[in-house]
Amino acid sequence: MKILFLVTAYNSLTQRAHIEVTNRGHEVSIELAVSDKVMAEAVELYKPDLIIAPMLKTAIPENIWQHHLCIIIHPGIMGDRGPSSLDWAIMINADNWGVTALQARAEMDTGDIWSSQTFKMRQCSKSCLYRAEVTEAAIKVILETIERFQSRNFVPQPLDYGQEDVKGCLRPYMRQNVRAIDWASESVSDIIRKIRAADSQPGVLDTIYGEEYYLYGAHEEDTLKGFPGEIIAQRYGAICRAACDGAVWISHLKKKKKENQLFFKLPAALVLSEHLKNLPELRLSLQVSSTDRTYKEIWYEEKNNVGYLHFDFSNGAMSTDQCQRLRDAFLDVCTRETKVIVLMGGYDFWSNGIHLNVIEAAQDPREESWRNINAMNDLVYAILTTNTHLVIAALQGNAAAGGVMLALAADIVYCRRGIVLNPHYKRMGLYGSEYWTYSLPKRVGMKKAIELTDNCMPMGTEFAKKIGLIDDYLGSHHIIFQQQIELIAEEMATSPDYDNRLTLKIQNRLKDEQYKPLEDYRKEELEQMKINFYEPGQSYHTARYNFVYKVPPLETPLHLAKHRQVGRNLEKCALFPFE
Ligand code: COA
Repeated sequence: MKILFLVTAYNSLTQRAHIEVTNRGHEVSIELAVSDKVMAEAVELYKPDLIIAPMLKTAIPENIWQHHLCIIIHPGIMGDRGPSSLDWAIMINADNWGVTALQARAEMDTGDIWSSQTFKMRQCSKSCLYRAEVTEAAIKVILETIERFQSRNFVPQPLDYGQEDVKGCLRPYMRQNVRAIDWASESVSDIIRKIRAADSQPGVLDTIYGEEYYLYGAHEEDTLKGFPGEIIAQRYGAICRAACDGAVWISHLKKKKKENQLFFKLPAALVLSEHLKNLPELRLSLQVSSTDRTYKEIWYEEKNNVGYLHFDFSNGAMSTDQCQRLRDAFLDVCTRETKVIVLMGGYDFWSNGIHLNVIEAAQDPREESWRNINAMNDLVYAILTTNTHLVIAALQGNAAAGGVMLALAADIVYCRRGIVLNPHYKRMGLYGSEYWTYSLPKRVGMKKAIELTDNCMPMGTEFAKKIGLIDDYLGSHHIIFQQQIELIAEEMATSPDYDNRLTLKIQNRLKDEQYKPLEDYRKEELEQMKINFYEPGQSYHTARYNFVYKVPPLETPLHLAKHRQVGRNLEKCALFPFE
């Protein structure tokens, strides 16, 4: 079948849907819904059998849904309506939530129901829920809808609030007055819930030191206390603010738009640095436990000869300081009497490479880009040259650009089934580093390496395994994945073959080094990156600006819009066409 996706953004859910639907033998073309006109044009050009909107913030024009079956993927249970579904699900503390495939019609979210899935709610931010439970449920409803449509005899269920299983209702757009926090009277759990319901967009509008900011990234704090509303500590860019019954860490802030001045999200302590000069930096030991409630980015656990190094950086973005701290932590755990080190990344993301927001905010973004990529390279180098342990990369969440190459530095790479990998840099106007010219061809061969970095397409775990980019994918549920990783790592650590394996790895690295030293790969990559960072007219600075300020693209990139490719020169990996 020919399926057209109408979407607001080619985001992770759309990418995953693209992969899954294509895997089932359908052809997918994509149109970014930048106007009613382009949507109509896409339908006219493509003549799809079915239209699906996996992530669409605007309405599909009437002249489209009247003549074509259009399915809207709504992040809510049956009967739920409105633009703030997940925000409300978190705010009302729902036990279960869901995703529903609805037929488009004039009144939003009232169309016939083609499929619906529910899941148990987890205590986390809206975007974390979106990237895990919502995405999994959305894929199920999309695939079920396609099957039902193909069967030709399925009759969708009209929305009927009289039905027992229709438990949702119409809820309004959630405004800032509902989200507002009263630090003097509200409990930590209420404050956390409010921030999570607005994270990653739009954030909770609040006042700090007399200025208005949006708050993001809430974490509970078990021990610190202070006068409600007061900022009482800082740690690795996050600030800790006291409430009446405890305290809350806030990792990121965005200043409210002022006249024509735009702002973007940054580590909270960086935004408030002028005010925090006398506030102590509360460093944390690596050995903090997974269950300790405080703000932690890097922590380490050890069991049965295996060390697990977690690095849960917000949005998977890794600044110079974060790369340096992670490298220090890695070198530290390499001195332990263990046999295997598992790099766990974060729950939500493994890594998305250098921190574009922190770079954008730097006094000299070119210099900061240079520092950041070098810090990232130092970390990758430390992993590539480990001769004390076998190293496993366990990707629980999506990875992109240098983040993928970071994983390839490990000896073995496992992914949670269903994550999305974007092993390319060109979309950001970069040649890329992280020793990718060594690691990527080594895994997939030179021809494929060039293809992957040129085509700039997202990749699913099945395909990644097929081409040898990763060693395997395991369970799609986080807990199952973690248990499987533990079993594999422990087995590896106790295997009679362990010593041979470690020796072989050291010998192979030595052979590779004699053939071409890692230093040469780094030098060659950085020569290209220097051009990207420092030469005039390079697209990286504009691409980064557009990414950080979230400038919406003007049209769909040609490589995604199959219907627009006829007779056009398909430049493989053009940047998104921004203004
Ligand atoms: N630096 C800073 N922030 C980053 C980031 C990076 N390298 N990569 C992702 N993010 C942030 C996004 O701004 C977004 O922030 P928000 O939710 O707070 O608004 C969040 O992570 C999720 O990204 P988004 O693009 O909305 O999610 P996605 O899952 O649809 O897409 C990527 C994921 C990784 C494909 C896309 O974010 C991307 O291209 N990132 C840049 C990768 C890169 O070029 N890195 C630098 C070269 S090493």
